[in-house]
Amino acid sequence: MVEGKNVVLGITGSIAAYKAVDIAAKLTQKGLAVDVVMTKAATKFVSALSFRSVTHRPVITDMWETPAEFNIEHVSLAERADVVVIAPATANTIAKLAAGIADEILTCTVLATRAPIILAPAMDAGMYSNPITQENLAKLRSRGFIIAGPGYGWLASGLVGMGRLVDPNEILGTIFQALGKKGDLVDKHIVVSAGGTREPIDLVRYIGNRSSGKMGYALAEAARDRGATVTLVTSVTELPPPAGVEVIPVESALEMREAVLKATAAADVLIMAAAVADYHPAKVAKDKIKRESETLTLELVKTPDIIGEVRGNIIKVGFAAESKDLIVRGTEKLKKKKLDLIAVNDITAEDSGFATDTNRVILIDRKGKVEQLSLMPKYEVAHLILDKVVVLLSRAQRSPAEKDT
Ligand code: PMT
Repeated sequence: MVEGKNVVLGITGSIAAYKAVDIAAKLTQKGLAVDVVMTKAATKFVSALSFRSVTHRPVITDMWETPAEFNIEHVSLAERADVVVIAPATANTIAKLAAGIADEILTCTVLATRAPIILAPAMDAGMYSNPITQENLAKLRSRGFIIAGPGYGWLASGLVGMGRLVDPNEILGTIFQALGKKGDLVDKHIVVSAGGTREPIDLVRYIGNRSSGKMGYALAEAARDRGATVTLVTSVTELPPPAGVEVIPVESALEMREAVLKATAAADVLIMAAAVADYHPAKVAKDKIKRESETLTLELVKTPDIIGEVRGNIIKVGFAAESKDLIVRGTEKLKKKKLDLIAVNDITAEDSGFATDTNRVILIDRKGKVEQLSLMPKYEVAHLILDKVVVLLSRAQRSPAEKDT
């Protein structure tokens, strides 16, 4: 979805500038064209060569000495940009932008562009909390600028407070979200579940499973990147929460059920990638169970079938983790749970299913159409599932008689 898009990445004079090299590298790896524009102060913290090395493109540091291939640089950059990001954005540059000052190529580009603009502030806590900076940020926000961060933590001054450049992954997520604003899932609300539920036994122990949440997170990010409003109901704490996604943390199947039923009340699509426990302990001990008896018997009771309980005019996509007879068992689950689509994992394969970065699934729809996907990153699997969701949504919008055509 983002391949071939143009990003102008502005760097201003902050110690956090080195972190932008990673942002530039990750954007380039995803197939985006990244034009880095540095203020003079930024070049004191990190060299233009670092950015040139990771983007394989000229880096612009001076309005008067621009590379020959660009004409009227700030105008061509501004027009070409699908998104402009300034990370880190200093209090000084923020103030200039709020006042409409265009004294360097970066501020000129921002003033000239019609693309979405993202600012990731990074500065000393005192500068950030100063009412002048706060007013400037509020003004820019009211004009449609997207402000990512800052975060709280250790600052270069030695103080601890607000002003740290927000995590680069969050900046990347915000960029992809901005680029997705014209995607094919705009105006759609998609609820995704992720991770393995944890069923408490006592104060410290639980019954869990090997789901890492990677598949569900990939789905949430892919849906966000296509413009959807995304709610992620997750039992996972190890993965960074995707930027631009509403994250609802849960632990047990019962908590997931409550969160999913609430989130889907007005949603268009539910994708259950979570590995929900089928049984949970009948009783949860209030204290830690002591290691006294030779054996210990736990009574387990069935958990509610969450996806089966979701009602209303909603597209339902389920997953099935199977070790044999994949198509037969997947089809059975699709029918039993009244799903629109099911993605069946072969959990005996080492490179797919639980806790891997890649997956190989079989997609089965209501009409019995079976599609075997090859091995690919979970993010790509997510997009192929969403391609099907887009078709299902368009069918759902047509009259009931047309739906089956
Ligand atoms: O998280 P990862 O490490 O990336 O791994 C991904 C995955 C292998 C967990 C994922 O791709 C997957 O297969 N998830 C579903 C696993 C599973 O629980 O399958 P199931 O056959 O038990 O359940 C079928 C469907 O019903 C699932 O969509 C499940 O979320 C849903 N379900 C199950 C039980 C229950 N009580 N309520 C449910 O809604």
